[in-house]
Amino acid sequence: MNNSLFRKKSLEQILKNAEAESHSNGGMSKILGVRDLVSMGIAAVIGAGIFSTIGAAAYDGGPGVIFLFVITAITCGFTALCYAEFASRVPVSGSAYTYSYVTFGEVVAWIIGWALILEYAIGNIVVAISWSSYFDNILQGIGIVLPRWMVTDTTTALKLYEAAQAAGKPLENLAWTAAPMVGDTRLIFNLPAFVIVILVTILAYIGIKESKKSANAMVGLKLLVLLVVVVVGVFFINTDNWTPFFPNEFGGVLKGVSAVFFAYIGFDAISTTAEECANPQRDLPRGMIYSLIICTVIYIVIALVITGMVNYSEFQGVADPLAYVFDKIGQPKVGYFVSVSAVVAATSVLLVFQIGQPRIWMSMSRDGLLPKAFSKIHPKYSTPSFATIMTGFLVAIPALFMDASLVTDLTSIGTLFAFVLVCGGVLVLPRESRTVKKSFSLPYINGQFIVPALWIVFAFLTRERIFGGFSHFGNEQHQEYLFLIFVFLSFAFSVFSFLRKWSLIPVLGVLCCSYLMIEIPVNSWFVFFAWMAAGLIIYFGYGYRRSKIA
Ligand code: ALA
Repeated sequence: MNNSLFRKKSLEQILKNAEAESHSNGGMSKILGVRDLVSMGIAAVIGAGIFSTIGAAAYDGGPGVIFLFVITAITCGFTALCYAEFASRVPVSGSAYTYSYVTFGEVVAWIIGWALILEYAIGNIVVAISWSSYFDNILQGIGIVLPRWMVTDTTTALKLYEAAQAAGKPLENLAWTAAPMVGDTRLIFNLPAFVIVILVTILAYIGIKESKKSANAMVGLKLLVLLVVVVVGVFFINTDNWTPFFPNEFGGVLKGVSAVFFAYIGFDAISTTAEECANPQRDLPRGMIYSLIICTVIYIVIALVITGMVNYSEFQGVADPLAYVFDKIGQPKVGYFVSVSAVVAATSVLLVFQIGQPRIWMSMSRDGLLPKAFSKIHPKYSTPSFATIMTGFLVAIPALFMDASLVTDLTSIGTLFAFVLVCGGVLVLPRESRTVKKSFSLPYINGQFIVPALWIVFAFLTRERIFGGFSHFGNEQHQEYLFLIFVFLSFAFSVFSFLRKWSLIPVLGVLCCSYLMIEIPVNSWFVFFAWMAAGLIIYFGYGYRRSKIA
């Protein structure tokens, strides 16, 4: 059992199978070059995160939130290098899922594939909801007001109702009060979120070429708008707003981990299009790294500008921070323009993720872990047709009813988990793959002394938290147990790095991603465990027996 759970695929086998599948299915179009990949990377990264969730992070962390952007960028940088190493060795669709099939074996690959659903499909629910709120802003700007019960979810509607009640505000036009009743249930749903997911799914279904063109156009527009935000915003910076820089100390900054990390998710999504790249081994690594660098620079500048324009304390409950800062300084027209581009930005994220998810399922289905239909390629459009439609339903239906904040944390944990395994995977890459000719190589820096030294510095800086965790053991908050687990994990990595001269970059990738994970609220961890348990049940019920290499 143990052996069969960890049965691995060899690289040669993966490349051969992918080629055979692509011939028997008519093949996918190999049209993406490095520019397209960078553009797709930016399309996937800049979206709901910077346009919506950064508001709360800036409120909790103050201007110091830029440090979180830097830390997260470094973490993602380590991960991107590890993804690049894999992408240059395993140039087939399937991303982290396929990579872990080679390194850790089948059950881990399944777990990763299952976690990636959190990144792509569940992540897209958040993006669709953010899209809907900006779209609603735009409609209101031109005088169209949709009934409130058609643009929200029950949880949010109830929260707004309670807040209005407490503040003694009028209640009659609120979603909660105005919603039609079906029996005892209020009919409240997010129609725009549903519709946009369906439209984007149709585009993803029709073809990679059409998707590429649309993504390129949307990226151009969103970069232009962010440039405008920066160039106009700089003139309205009041440097007094940068003091204090850390109003809630570093603890406040760390509250934004999930939101800020969410803003970076996506650079890895382009690795799912390996089979549609003209030269994946050369271009995928470049595509990922370049897009990450560009987005990092943009994020840091934006964070500095908006926290300089408006005092951090004003971002409480602001869901559209980039538009809000311009309203605040009396430039509502610029704010409106920002809202329009937020809609475009979120659409491009939706598109790339709606493209990524079916390609991961396609790989899992080729391996026999999912039914055959998931790897069926459309004869005319050359896209994984059935898997694309399933992704559409999986995202569109929850987007109708769910509250975004519930799923943001879940997306971030799932993605970080996949990142940990990709970085860890580089450490255990099978020898045979080292002989594959490739055009990108992860630089080897010996971690033998650096990792233990970093651990000592870390332990020294967090000594109070570590001692606190031990001395209150038994009645400590769950979050602190996660922290202690991290302390042990990082210690173990230091020991192994010392003994086995592990490569520094993947080790730092594993540790930084794990650290960001443990800063995410523990409630979301419980949901994450439940999700993973459901995945394992499906694996043992289906994939374990039907796996091609069984
Ligand atoms: N990084 C993507 C966004 O912020 C998921 O929308």
